[in-house]
Amino acid sequence: MTDAAAVVPAPLASALARAGQERVLRFWPTLDAAGRSRLLGQLAVIDWDEFETLQRLASRRQPAPPAAIDLAAATTPPCLRLRDPANAPGPAVAVATGERLLAAGRVGAILVAGGQGTRLGCHGPKGLVAAGPVSGANLFELLFGKLRAVHRRFGRRVPLAIMTSSATDAATRRFLGESGHCGLDPDFVHVFRQHDLPAIDAATGAILLDAPDRLALAPDGHGGMLVALHESGGLDWFGRHGVEHLASFQVDNPLALPLDREFLGYHALSRADFSTQVVSKREPGERVGVVVEQGGRHAVVEYSDLPPALAAERRPDGRLRFHAGSIAVHCFTKAFLDRAAARRDSLPLHLAHKAVPYLDELGTLVRPATPNAFKFERFIFDLMPLARSVTVVEIDACDGFAPLKNPAGSAADAPEHVHAALVDHARRLLAEAGVTVADGVDVELDSATILDAADVAAALPRGTHIATPQVIRGMIPRT
Ligand code: UD1
Repeated sequence: MTDAAAVVPAPLASALARAGQERVLRFWPTLDAAGRSRLLGQLAVIDWDEFETLQRLASRRQPAPPAAIDLAAATTPPCLRLRDPANAPGPAVAVATGERLLAAGRVGAILVAGGQGTRLGCHGPKGLVAAGPVSGANLFELLFGKLRAVHRRFGRRVPLAIMTSSATDAATRRFLGESGHCGLDPDFVHVFRQHDLPAIDAATGAILLDAPDRLALAPDGHGGMLVALHESGGLDWFGRHGVEHLASFQVDNPLALPLDREFLGYHALSRADFSTQVVSKREPGERVGVVVEQGGRHAVVEYSDLPPALAAERRPDGRLRFHAGSIAVHCFTKAFLDRAAARRDSLPLHLAHKAVPYLDELGTLVRPATPNAFKFERFIFDLMPLARSVTVVEIDACDGFAPLKNPAGSAADAPEHVHAALVDHARRLLAEAGVTVADGVDVELDSATILDAADVAAALPRGTHIATPQVIRGMIPRT
């Protein structure tokens, strides 16, 4: 046993005493040096002021933070519709503006990829789950390809920050190394890890252990991106690359269009701090958050926090009152993220009551069947109410939203739905370019070389007929 791990440092011992958490060391005498140092390492990164907040929230048992807006008085905000000539400014102006930003290298991207594919039967990062309908490419490959396609078209690389978690960090870095960063220039990739927060026993407020030398920790939500990006030097890194706008997206949506030129154009032209893409929510039970507005402020209300009666309310035209379904594709000005990251309290904590395995007093691992503990998360969309100006852009789900959330056979968001959505999208772009595909034949657009119908048209002559499953690739990359 090394000396360093033999004793609990005095400042930590007094922090534990102040927080009433000395019992977290109850197995200390039985631990070897490695175990002691692991436990000390986990305890050392706990922010004990923040921990007080966790305990306070847990004792109040209030799942969502106080709403930034009055939901009863809220409405769905006006949305620009992608490609709608009625938009002011119009789509052509927006596309030209977005293209200028991309060609000038002013746009960076943030991928939140802290989640695991557990629900999909994959125990590594969700990004490693296969989703290419013909290629079998994984989510990372499909999504990173989109950045390569933008580089190919506009001649500028898009700096990409990838957020991992303690559960996904090592495997994600390994994959990036082994895959040659999927063709991205490693100088334009910044990997950073979000923090963990302790799970707290709902009855006693105690930090749970899931092994004698290990706290039960959970990632702090995708909102952890703000602090972790800042602390890792990521915001400055984007600044050094000349980035002024940051598009963020989730790893579970292979159709995501974070760098859509028209979307970026509306964001820049409207001088929004925060722009976001939505799809039309049609049924109250769809598991998407909704963008709402009240008194000039915008917010996303998570599906689990929207009272069922409000979720089901319909307007006279038959549309849901809250129909702006958030697909978690956002664009922020870098200046807005800089300001938000400088404030400690920018993002509130949400509580989730969960069944968390824990060690009982005798050191036996208990796997509760019902929720016994609180986990805590921050959501990046909670920055919305802090924005001076928000722009909401509605897209058609078939163009940019095919989330992979549930195992095969589920009613929605399962691999077969994603497969069908990607094939359907490819077929539509091929049809636009005058290419026909035999019935029942799967086609896939290579995300690294096909940005839009123009790339399809350059790759395949009009009148081409596709009779066998294949990946359609664009012409030889220009860069
Ligand atoms: C999320 C949104 C929901 C939106 C939907 C669209 C939240 C709370 N809800 O729902 O409003 O309509 O997506 O698909 O975000 N992640 C991390 N670290 C974490 C937690 C999550 O990186 O600590 C990442 C995951 O890898 C994933 C994304 O965030 O890419 C979404 O997380 P998930 O918990 O699956 O959200 P949903 O409930 O599906």
